[in-house]
Amino acid sequence: MPNNHLYDHDIVSIKDFTKQDLEFIFRSTDKISTLRPNEKSELGKGRTLGYIFYEPSTRTRMSFEAAMASLGGSSIGIFDPKSSSIEKGESLADTIRIIDLYSDVIILRHPLDGSSRFAGELSRNPIINAGSGSEEHPTQAMLDLYTMLKEKKKINNLTIGIVGDLKYGRTVYSLLYALANYNVEVHLISPSILGIRKESIYDIRKKLKLYEHSQLEDILPKLDVIYVTRIQRERFPDIQEYEKVKGTYTIDNNILTKAKPDVSIMHPMPRMEEISHSIDDTNNAIYFKQAAYGKELRAALLALVLNENPI
Ligand code: CP
Repeated sequence: MPNNHLYDHDIVSIKDFTKQDLEFIFRSTDKISTLRPNEKSELGKGRTLGYIFYEPSTRTRMSFEAAMASLGGSSIGIFDPKSSSIEKGESLADTIRIIDLYSDVIILRHPLDGSSRFAGELSRNPIINAGSGSEEHPTQAMLDLYTMLKEKKKINNLTIGIVGDLKYGRTVYSLLYALANYNVEVHLISPSILGIRKESIYDIRKKLKLYEHSQLEDILPKLDVIYVTRIQRERFPDIQEYEKVKGTYTIDNNILTKAKPDVSIMHPMPRMEEISHSIDDTNNAIYFKQAAYGKELRAALLALVLNENPI
C-alpha cells in the first residue's frame, strides 16, 4: 500500500483527490470490508465520531455511524439543530469548536458552500464534508465510483447518463470531478432550467467528454449507467419553478425496455417519483447496493483518517 495521505486530514472536496488517491481508497475499502470483525474493531477502538447535520440526512449520517460502530468506535452528534444550542443562536464556528473537544473526527453537513473548508480551519481534528450547499458531497462521489467499480467491474470506458436536477444537486458536481479522472463519456440530461452550472465545472470541461440533452430517450440506448437525481425542491427560490419541472423524468419498466439489458440505475437517494418502485427488484436497480457500499467505503475513510497504517 502507498502512504496513507488521508491520515489526520480533512475530506472537504473531491477536487483534492487524485486518481491514485481514489484507487487507494477503493483498494482500502476492499481490504477493510473483508477484515475479520475482531481485526476491524481495532481500527476505531476508543475513538469518537462527532457529527453535525444542519440539513436532514438518512444515509450519510447512519452509514457513518454504522461504519464507526463496525470499527469499534462510538458516535455522538446533532441531527436536529432545533434540539441543540444552534437554536439559541450558537454559531457554526463555536459549534465546531465544541464538538472538536469531544470527538476524534467530525462529520458536517451544512447548507452553505465552503462550510466544511471553514470548519476544517477551526478544528484540530479532521472534518469530513457530508454535503455543503449545492457545491460538494465528496464521500458520495467516492461511493458512487466504488459502486460502478464493483457492479460494472470498471469505470473507464463507461457511458454514463446523469439525469434530473443538475443545477442544485451537489452530488452531481462531486461525481463529475471524480469521473474526470477516468476515460468516460458523460451525458447530462435535464430540463433547461436545471442544466449544469457551467462555472462550477470550468476546471474539468476539457477533461470530460460531456454532452447535454433534454430528452433521456435521445441517448438512452447508449448508456451503461443512468445516475438519477432528485429535483431538489428545497433549493428552488421560487416553488412555482419547481412545480413546472417536477416529474419530468421517471425511470420505469418502459424506460428499461429501451435501454441496454445490463444498464445500471443509480441514485444517491432519497428518490421521489424519478424512479418507479416497480423496477426496485430488477437487476438494473443498484441504488440500494450503492447505499450499502456507502457504509463500507465510509468505514475505510474513517479507518484511513484515524490510523496511519490501518491495513
Ligand atoms: N445520498 C445522501 O446524501 O443521502 P442522505 O441525504 O439521506 O444522507
